[in-house]
Amino acid sequence: MDIVFHDREKEIEEITRILKSRPDLITFVYGPINSGKSSLMDEVVRRLPENFVTFFIDLRAHVVTNVEEFYDVLFSYEVGLKRKITKFSDVISSLVSSAVRVYSGFPLPESLISKVLTKDKPKNAFTYIFNVLQELKSKGKSPVIILDELQVIGDLKIDGPLIYELFNFFVTISKRYHLAHVFAITSDSLFIEKVHSEAMLHGRCDYLLVDDFDYDTTKEFLQKYGFSREEIELAWEYLGGKPVYLVGAIKNKDRLREFCENVLKVRFSQILDTIYGIEGKLFEDVLSYFREISEKESVRYRKIDEALRFCVRNNILFLDPVERIVKPQSRTDLLAIRKVLSEIRD
Ligand SMILES: Nc1ncnc2c1ncn2[C@@H]1O[C@H](COP(=O)(O)OP(=O)(O)OP(=O)(O)O)[C@@H](O)[C@H]1O
Ligand SMILES: [Mg+2]
Repeated sequence: MDIVFHDREKEIEEITRILKSRPDLITFVYGPINSGKSSLMDEVVRRLPENFVTFFIDLRAHVVTNVEEFYDVLFSYEVGLKRKITKFSDVISSLVSSAVRVYSGFPLPESLISKVLTKDKPKNAFTYIFNVLQELKSKGKSPVIILDELQVIGDLKIDGPLIYELFNFFVTISKRYHLAHVFAITSDSLFIEKVHSEAMLHGRCDYLLVDDFDYDTTKEFLQKYGFSREEIELAWEYLGGKPVYLVGAIKNKDRLREFCENVLKVRFSQILDTIYGIEGKLFEDVLSYFREISEKESVRYRKIDEALRFCVRNNILFLDPVERIVKPQSRTDLLAIRKVLSEIRD
């Protein structure tokens, strides 16, 4: 069964507002795991008018262990370039005239590779992108750069840490030259927390939370697929508004209770395995987070101690550095945490 993209009108409106104005800030799109961040950006791009040219760099789909591999993702060596292209001006005219509006990397013809991707001058790669954006802009196009799961390059270095070079570059092209809109998507709460506390980015970026659906949105979504009131209540009780689980519920509508119980069973067992891997003070501190979350569902944190870091790193809790709260990654995680607590008590 084909599932049609549902709602997100508020988020789409917000992003459209950003895209309509002059590029200025880097927008970080963040939220719990599987909340629909990438799908939202796909939908936004699909709806963009013709004058937008999007470079959607999906780092999730690649293994990136060194800078060369990062460049392999950042650049594409033939996509959209139909004729044999050897000159920079041909790259631009091809980008301007092509019907293709979304690229999975910046087109870089073979003849320019050795000039652009030089070992001794890593900044040449950024200069090339800068020039592409500047040319596109001067020809009436609005470039958009989307980086999905940017944190995978976390530890790589060129002159200094690559991530700082990149942020610097993005600040330059958005805030200083207003050449392109830049969106960085991530489901890594600790990465977004680091970004949020990074002095270099203060006043230069914006945050957009893409959370699981709320109750009404979940209800409308499931109603489209013929769910009764009881079925909606059952799905909401077990799965909350996590889009990926709801898609599973739709596909398993004829055995809904079994599906829901199974999702919970799997999550319970995973969390149990995770916490049985630790002991001593850390184990006790994690349990005390579990107790608090189990009761209040969402709590304000003061500082990120070892136990909290552990829960977040293992994707049990989602940390929102903008609102300064932590909560379970999903409704299912909340139920699983409660089950874990009663298992340990018994
Ligand atoms: N608005 C939506 N309407 C319908 N289905 C959706 C929607 N958003 C997400 N989904 C479903 O949920 C799945 C997970 O969404 P997606 O991959 O976009 O989440 P994500 O937040 O990017 O996940 P991750 O944290 O792993 O990066 C999608 O494959 C899709 O099936
Ligand atoms: Mg994603």
